[in-house]
Amino acid sequence: MINIRRECEADRETVYELVKAAFASAEHSDGNEHDLVNALREGESFIPELSLVAEQDGQIVGYILFTKLKLDGAKLLALAPLAVLPEYQRTGVGTALIARAHEIARELGYEYSVVLGSEKYYPRSGYVPASSYGIAAPFEVNDENFMAIKLDSEAPSVSGTVEYAPEFGL
Ligand SMILES: CC(C)(COP(=O)(O)OP(=O)(O)OC[C@H]1O[C@@H](n2cnc3c(N)ncnc32)[C@H](O)[C@@H]1OP(=O)(O)O)[C@@H](O)C(=O)NCCC(=O)NCCS
Repeated sequence: MINIRRECEADRETVYELVKAAFASAEHSDGNEHDLVNALREGESFIPELSLVAEQDGQIVGYILFTKLKLDGAKLLALAPLAVLPEYQRTGVGTALIARAHEIARELGYEYSVVLGSEKYYPRSGYVPASSYGIAAPFEVNDENFMAIKLDSEAPSVSGTVEYAPEFGL
């Protein structure tokens, strides 16, 4: 059974190694995702409630982080990174982490979440091309790989280019 909970300080080293291990075999990686997590935790975009770990078999097997993203006055999030230990991949951990994080994000009043990633993976969690919401990336990217989900059906529409936290170095 998967148990999802908020990351605590004692988990940080484990999360660092987990993110490193997950991205070591990833199709797309800049090799820096584990350091990015450490930097984001120290920044203003960090939301402790949306830094989550998944536990299974008595160990942490997955991690997800959402940080604040700027676009007008809207309440937007960036999903990055999502990482699952290689031996636990394709067992539903990533999907469960996204689902739980979306619930919490809604409770916190966030309106949209944006992700840069595989068009084969994120649509199953409700993501569609961000362009369909009028949300643009601050970098060159294939339309299908820059995705968004509207978390709050009542949220006003948005339009423009998002601004990532400075820690992303974009
Ligand atoms: C991508 C990742 C987070 C997915 O998490 P997961 O727990 O393995 O995925 P789930 O078990 O929830 O979903 C599995 C399904 O997603 C698909 N999937 C998994 N990883 C995928 C990938 N990298 N690209 C496309 N599809 C992927 C598979 O088709 C699988 O479906 P199937 O079982 O029908 O074949 C995980 O594989 C991972 O940590 N990868 C390395 C780091 C990474 O690439 N992070 C994402 C950056 S965008």
